[in-house]
Amino acid sequence: MTATIAKLNHEVKDLSLAPLGKQRISWAGREMPVLKLIKERFAQEKPFAGIRLVACCHVTTETANLAIALKAGGADAILIASNPLSTQDDVAASLVVDEGIPVFAIKGEDNATYHRHVNIALDHKPNIIIDDGSDVTATLIQERQNQIPDIIGTTEETTTGIVRLQAMFKDGVLSFPAMNVNDADTKHFFDNRYGTGQSTLDGIIRATNILLAGKTIVVVGYGWCGKGTAMRAKGMGANVIVTEIDPVKAIEAAMDGFRVMPMAEAATYGDMFITVTGNKHVIRGEHFDVMKDGAIVCNSGHFDIEIDLEALKSKSSEVRIVRPFTEEYVLKSGKSIVVLGEGRLINLAAAEGHPSAVMDMSFANQALACEYLVKNKGKLEPGLHSIPKELDREIASLKLKAMGITIDTLTAEQISYMNSWTSGT
Ligand code: NAD
Ligand code: ADE
Repeated sequence: MTATIAKLNHEVKDLSLAPLGKQRISWAGREMPVLKLIKERFAQEKPFAGIRLVACCHVTTETANLAIALKAGGADAILIASNPLSTQDDVAASLVVDEGIPVFAIKGEDNATYHRHVNIALDHKPNIIIDDGSDVTATLIQERQNQIPDIIGTTEETTTGIVRLQAMFKDGVLSFPAMNVNDADTKHFFDNRYGTGQSTLDGIIRATNILLAGKTIVVVGYGWCGKGTAMRAKGMGANVIVTEIDPVKAIEAAMDGFRVMPMAEAATYGDMFITVTGNKHVIRGEHFDVMKDGAIVCNSGHFDIEIDLEALKSKSSEVRIVRPFTEEYVLKSGKSIVVLGEGRLINLAAAEGHPSAVMDMSFANQALACEYLVKNKGKLEPGLHSIPKELDREIASLKLKAMGITIDTLTAEQISYMNSWTSGT
């Protein structure tokens, strides 16, 4: 370890993991061409010179590429984990050793350490916060009001974080602009749907190595993540049941070919349950009571609140680890229920999160949202702001180009037709 690294503030598992992390960050970068272009421009233009930035994200190879792009743009950036179980320790090490970026994240850190890291992030006195779940922003508002004048704005990328920001705004405590990255089409259409769809099943398979074909899988919630998860589970040969509370989403699921029913009924059929609602206790005591022996439950929603594990614990005589990220709860009734990844997002706990190709677009949005905040410093109203449509379209165009796909453009006649109302039948 060089003297410089020793001096660099950090808290990671093991700096000697850096070479593996560097290799994997570079591999992920190959699938992130849009972010690469943005990084190259940032390196020229230095939009973040003099800006202190905190990123609270899952510390993955993709996040590393984002952090490197922000640093190339001149940001004085530090990175903390947005979830106790999602950190890739080799990546954290490489960011410290190879990139000189302070990282505070250790896979498996306890809640106290997680909150200490959130406070270390705020000690950095950020001007911009990149949040994933809004824990840094909530802590700032609850405990560090005196730092609010330093804030130019925040960016938030997950659905749950946006719900929290909306609640903060409603309570009159959100006094700075917050960019709604989740709202960008190039984010939720792809990250939430195809990213969560693939990586959730990846996490389940890595944790259990079970065959999905022929299994009855209950997907709880048919929003963007639920649609992707149900679609991919069906593609793997599972019989998918959907549960919902929104009548429109329930019709959509039914017309997409899934069986739809209340959880009380679905609980009796499922071999496996995947929660993706962002809501609390969508699987609870009364559902465990009627589940089959050996049923597997897991979550891919942001927080570990979707499955009522306290209720399950109270019904159990023993909890044993049967594989990494796989715990068997032996119920007093004699049957067992298997919980994956401690009820935390299974795609990041047991696998590596979304593939780089989708995070390319999510993080292009994050990077451009940060630049937009700096460019519009002092001009944006407090509250949530969508990513401007032209940035969303620019990201989509760059992604298409990188994928080698060209599309049609409007003819002059079509433009004129679309702008007129006089020609009908
Ligand atoms: P969404 O709002 O599009 O969908 C959530 C759905 O859950 C809605 O249709 C809602 O009606 C439904 N729902 C709410 N309560 C329910 C209940 N009790 N029973 C059944 N359905 C219920 O949100 P989304 O974008 O799909 O995100 C869902 C969660 O996944 C959020 O917590 C989000 O932050 C998280 N997320 C995780 C990842 C990941 O990497 N694992 C990626 C993106 C989003
Ligand atoms: N959220 C979901 N997948 C992710 C990934 N690969 N990196 C960072 N955040 C994520």
